Amino acid sequence: SRKAANIISAQIIMKPNCVLGLATGSSPVGTYKTAIEWYKKGDLDFSQVTSVNLDEYKGLSPENDQSYRYFMNTNLFDHVNIDKHVLSFRTDWKQILTKPAVNTMDHSQTGGVDLQLLGLGHNGHIGFNEPGAAFEKETHCVDLTESTIEANKRFFESEDDVPRQAYTMGIKNIMQAKKILVVVSGEDKADILKEVLYGPITPEVPASILQLHNDVTIVADEAALSKIDM
Ligand code: GLP
Repeated sequence: SRKAANIISAQIIMKPNCVLGLATGSSPVGTYKTAIEWYKKGDLDFSQVTSVNLDEYKGLSPENDQSYRYFMNTNLFDHVNIDKHVLSFRTDWKQILTKPAVNTMDHSQTGGVDLQLLGLGHNGHIGFNEPGAAFEKETHCVDLTESTIEANKRFFESEDDVPRQAYTMGIKNIMQAKKILVVVSGEDKADILKEVLYGPITPEVPASILQLHNDVTIVADEAALSKIDM
């Protein structure tokens, strides 16, 4: 988490008005906590940063504690001096700036993502781009696979409460980010991480496309790296 926070911090120091593409899930939580600590110490300043969110469940209101907007607010935005978050996908594929709650904008209006943070799904998904998703897709609505519903039900009261659809940046949007940072932890990600990095580049393993990006950093713990000979 500290290594990933260092990379985000370096990005903000090098370009204070950068655009960060931010992710949810359990993997980046420690990274956000660390960034908050450094902000509180006065080492990080988010005042000129714009953030765009990677994905969001369809049909959950921002107040719903399972929405990704709520996640970003509680895990990062409420604790730092960030003004511009582009958090919520709307059906017209535009996103809403919530703070200040006035403008709407889409990804292209941000000037492009400087640093995209990603977690990795057990089936190789990034954002909610599930296996089989076309690499050329931009922001779109997806039907979640059973394995993703299963993996994410831990955050909900019951499996029935997990939304069946979500909005996600497409692979094309993700690949357009200037830099990509992937955080991966746990033994349960070891097989998929190896496949992502060394297997064939195929839509069946969405994250395998990252092999073609020219600036990707993987920050992983030993358990997640355990299947890779180093
Ligand atoms: C979810 C999110 C992804 C996230 C993935 C991994 O499905 N849509 O953006 O990267 O799960 O989550 P975790 O980090 O909790 O394993």
